[in-house]
Amino acid sequence: MDYLSDGAVLSNEIQLHIPEEGISALSSELLNSFEKSNLEHNDSENKKTTDCQETSGKDSCVGSVVAQHYNQLSERGVAERKESRIFHMRNLNNWIKSRIIDRIRKENGHHCRLNVLDLGCGKGGDLLKWERGHVHHVVCADIAETSIEQCKERYAKIKYRSRNVFTAEFIAADCSKVLAKGSSKFSNHELKLDLVSCQFAFHYSFESLPQAEQMLANVSSNLQPGGYFIGTTTDADDIMRRLGRDKDSENRKFGNSIFSVEFPPETPLDPPPLFGAKYNFHLEEVVDCPEFLVHFPTFQKLATKYGLTLVQKTRFEEFVSQELDHGKDLLMRMKALEAYPPFNNQDPVSQDLEDYVHAQEYLDSSSSADGFRPKIGTLSKAEWEAVCKIRLTM
Ligand SMILES: C[S@@+](CC[C@H](N)C(=O)[O-])C[C@H]1O[C@@H](n2cnc3c(N)ncnc32)[C@H](O)[C@@H]1O
Repeated sequence: MDYLSDGAVLSNEIQLHIPEEGISALSSELLNSFEKSNLEHNDSENKKTTDCQETSGKDSCVGSVVAQHYNQLSERGVAERKESRIFHMRNLNNWIKSRIIDRIRKENGHHCRLNVLDLGCGKGGDLLKWERGHVHHVVCADIAETSIEQCKERYAKIKYRSRNVFTAEFIAADCSKVLAKGSSKFSNHELKLDLVSCQFAFHYSFESLPQAEQMLANVSSNLQPGGYFIGTTTDADDIMRRLGRDKDSENRKFGNSIFSVEFPPETPLDPPPLFGAKYNFHLEEVVDCPEFLVHFPTFQKLATKYGLTLVQKTRFEEFVSQELDHGKDLLMRMKALEAYPPFNNQDPVSQDLEDYVHAQEYLDSSSSADGFRPKIGTLSKAEWEAVCKIRLTM
């Protein structure tokens, strides 16, 4: 955990919800200032957006590239996932999502049965969490049709072994382009949701202002007053800081052995636009496609426009330490951290000793007088650095 406390981790957790009194209008002053800054920063991007909308469905839109990428990602079995270089990092992400869901359930009372929209659900990686959260109904929506098919299959397996599982429906749609609510896509047009969850997906909509707005409209029009929007997205401040253009004004890339972030030459960086600040993100085994910086103040203003109130925004390391007391058992069960030094006969996840210097230093500084050296839970440095790119929103 030592690596967590050195200030290198800059991810955030935010909690947004619609207040009990319902949606209030955004002041025109705020709206105007937002529209103005958007225009100033984003002239060329606006043109691109229009082109993209006019040729909707063709390859000029990043959405189709993203869908294609996730569609062709093969599903990994449990055994294969255990061999993964980012096994613990993925488990830590899953632990965090489980803890957020648990918080929401506590807020609503453990007996309430939530209606949920999983926006950008992928292959259904969170279905088991919804099952454990005893939710009532889940609308699973994703731009990638094959992922939605795989999500359906996963759900069918869960339903086969557990009859009392939540009901579910599946929508293949670009949620930054179409409004799911009220369209024929929702099986029950009257369904009001208690929770919208958008995990690792909101950043795709920051390609343009209309897309980000559509995504938020999908959140807000489906939530009932008092409902929650939770999610995780990338941390633009952290990405820009790590790009280090103050030290090297030409720099467009950073990363390590498991991930990289690279801005193509056409993305202006000094400063980046509010929308369409495209970079290519590579994460070993799981992601290789374009994403967009999410300028958080803009996201927050837009969310306000759609009636969402910021409840909580917590940095990643704060969230982990806040949840450690109550979530430790689950953390261990989910193998969300790697034991260091490794147990007998086990190899560390990374073969690079540099990846464990922080853990070794922590142990050296804390071993007891009798020489007893406990094991600690950590991630390899490369995984911490990749995790740090993520901002948790709630
Ligand atoms: C990194 S994956 C996360 C999947 C899942 N939420 C999870 O946490 O495991 C991002 C997902 O967002 C989906 N996505 C990207 N853009 C989208 C859009 N415009 N509308 C709906 N889904 C989208 C992708 O297809 C992909 O499944």
